[in-house]
Amino acid sequence: MAIERTLSIIKPDATRRNLTGKINALFEAGGLRIVAQRRIQLSRAQAEAFYAAHSARPFFGSLCAFMTSGPVVVQVLEGENAVARNREIMGATDPAKAADGTVRKQFAESIEANSAHGSDSLDNAKIEIAFFFAGVDIVG
Ligand code: CMP
Repeated sequence: MAIERTLSIIKPDATRRNLTGKINALFEAGGLRIVAQRRIQLSRAQAEAFYAAHSARPFFGSLCAFMTSGPVVVQVLEGENAVARNREIMGATDPAKAADGTVRKQFAESIEANSAHGSDSLDNAKIEIAFFFAGVDIVG
């Protein structure tokens, strides 16, 4: 078992409904520690850069519009196998397919407004954490 860090984003549908604390409670109950956290308003350019890997997908424009529709909470989660653990806690991208008790099953409104983002690999976690945080911002 390895201690990892992963990038998490609590999305605008969740901040709008004041769900940051409830979602953070699920991360903490699931064994992850919030070692950095900041509430920000993404610009369109920042959203497009963050989701550049999805730029050819048909939902890219809508996704970037949604991600800039209100504040997000960007955070670094740390723990054993944090990348996979966080994805278990979030549940499937499509809330209709997410398991009971997961963030997306409980809170997501749609496949787009799905309340949380989490890095999909350790390599991407490193890139995504560096997108938002400097080393001195992360206190383990
Ligand atoms: P996220 O984990 O942030 O990564 C890409 C996001 O695109 C995804 O969550 C969803 O919010 C959004 N999205 C919108 N439509 C789709 C789709 N059809 N398939 C996958 N992701 C989608």
